[in-house]
Amino acid sequence: MADTTITQTDFEKFREFFYRKTGIQFETSKRYFVDKRLVERMELTGSTSFRNYFTMLRFEASGEELQHLTNLMTVNETYFFREQYQFECLVKSILPEIVSRKTDKKPIRIWVMPSSSGEEPYSIALYLLEYWAAINDWDIEIIASDIDTKILAKARAGHYSVRSVQQLPETLLRKYFERRADGYQICDDLRNAIEFTRVNLSDRADTRAYRDFDVVFCRNLLIYFDDVSRKTAAETFFDAMKPGGYICLGHSESMSRVSSLYKVRKFPEAIVYQKPLEA
Ligand SMILES: C[S@@+](CC[C@H](N)C(=O)[O-])C[C@H]1O[C@@H](n2cnc3c(N)ncnc32)[C@H](O)[C@@H]1O
Repeated sequence: MADTTITQTDFEKFREFFYRKTGIQFETSKRYFVDKRLVERMELTGSTSFRNYFTMLRFEASGEELQHLTNLMTVNETYFFREQYQFECLVKSILPEIVSRKTDKKPIRIWVMPSSSGEEPYSIALYLLEYWAAINDWDIEIIASDIDTKILAKARAGHYSVRSVQQLPETLLRKYFERRADGYQICDDLRNAIEFTRVNLSDRADTRAYRDFDVVFCRNLLIYFDDVSRKTAAETFFDAMKPGGYICLGHSESMSRVSSLYKVRKFPEAIVYQKPLEA
């Protein structure tokens, strides 16, 4: 008979393990949320006890169970045109600066990390098409990453609920989406414009290949991290950006409190952090 009891010690052991793997810090107040998901996976995997499940989670060579559990533990809340003032900053202030410094015709690279179900990278692509006059003069590469494989599959499919698109102007909805019985399907041109990849921001082996970005959007992820994993994330992004690259965070997040690597840039539309040009 399976025993799905999770003691306080079990919870703490799991919390420490999950934090080391993902950078995500669960407060004790999140115990119900965490336990519920652990029990769900224990039952689905036929584990006889927490101890039995936890051993599998830690030592399974494929990491498959850890991925299933991570997919359940992440908070994927997002929507189109969330914190739109930063997209405005991108087209009105950041891109003009980048272009004015550019001495080659290489693509301008944007990394959306984390992308969740894709609303943010698609919003950026849409914003550039609609509101950046120089769009036809430059190649843009948008790479969108997340740790959650299930949410990335949703992002690639590009099918959205009415709630998810409610901030979009009607004209843009009509232009870039097809109305379906249960929501909206984003057009193939936009779907093909974004490359979605699975990356754990807290794993150097995953992020090593991500380099030479002009702009990074890391919005509403650092709130789930503690100060140590925020600092590591700041260093990871520093390595991933070109000198002079820009990083946009969520409205309640700040780089100044976490790292002194970046310059604060106060643009009319938003506050953004910049890797120094001479770095
Ligand atoms: C609240 S969503 C933010 C989505 C989007 N950036 C926005 O602001 O609307 C947070 C996302 O962070 C992802 N995430 C959590 N830990 C991560 C990690 N260590 N590496 C990469 N993504 C992570 C989750 O899977 C989730 O999709």
